[in-house]
Amino acid sequence: MKKLKYSDITPENYYINRRNFIAGSAVFSSMIASGLTQNEAEASISQLSPNSLQEITNYNNFYEFGTSKTDPAKYSKKLTTIPWQLEVDGLTNKKGIFDLEKILNNKQLEERIYRLRCVEGWSMVIPWIGFPLKKLIDQMDPKNEARYVAFETLYRPDEMRGQRYKILDWPYVEGLTIEEAMNPLTFLATGLYGKELPNQNGAPLRLVVPWKYGFKSIKSIVKISFTSEQPKTTWSAANPREYGFFSNVNPNVDHPRWSQATERVIGEGLFGQRRKTEMFNGYEKEVGHLYKGMDLKKHY
Ligand code: MTE
Repeated sequence: MKKLKYSDITPENYYINRRNFIAGSAVFSSMIASGLTQNEAEASISQLSPNSLQEITNYNNFYEFGTSKTDPAKYSKKLTTIPWQLEVDGLTNKKGIFDLEKILNNKQLEERIYRLRCVEGWSMVIPWIGFPLKKLIDQMDPKNEARYVAFETLYRPDEMRGQRYKILDWPYVEGLTIEEAMNPLTFLATGLYGKELPNQNGAPLRLVVPWKYGFKSIKSIVKISFTSEQPKTTWSAANPREYGFFSNVNPNVDHPRWSQATERVIGEGLFGQRRKTEMFNGYEKEVGHLYKGMDLKKHY
């Protein structure tokens, strides 16, 4: 099997596993399946021009490796990601510990080019490779009482030097409502730019929730649980006044210490120009219905 470069990926069917990349189905078929015409799908992809691999892999937040933006690239190299297991727990009929290889085995991987907006006020565009979280949830057969999905990052201070300090309450945890988790945009990434996911971006498996602030997109996931109660989330536990459970990108709801109306796009605006932040990070059409009638200032 041959290893594909990003430039080799064509809008035909493609299937990828962790080591071997084979051309197959992609962006277009998934976008068309979600109701877009071929032209709309093409237009919506070409509007987003991805950041460079250099930018995406050298300006990161991954506090398990340190708090500066360059720490993850510097200190994540020795993280062991093979073998990797995923525990599935809580209100499900398929509890257990599964090899990631096995989970990925029957998954058709696709590319999704998404905006990522950090709560700190910067943003990027990232061409992820992976599959919708919904596909895994369907397989895990959650019980009817499951209302939330909780996620947990690896805890391995030997390899994650940031975890030797009590910067956050480790392990890093996150959560979504089951409706958010099942939304077609919610994605589990296993790669980017047509290659395996670099460690600093959350290898080998990380969540991507493009309409929420970046901290919801939890990295290096080892556990997924189905719960009836809203799960604990790391940043809202650390500072509940500043970070809520929902954390939807919203230019009209400011962070207590800064405005969220604009953002600095990494690689753009050498002279400090900023762009207007869009409601739900530009994904309102796809996810607005999830929050109909909800007071978004109260449920920040
Ligand atoms: N996941 C874990 N486990 N630890 C973290 O520190 N940082 C979050 C999120 N996921 C973080 C995490 C934040 S604040 C952001 S903005 C994104 O990862 C950054 O993702 P990227 O570095 O791949 O761009």
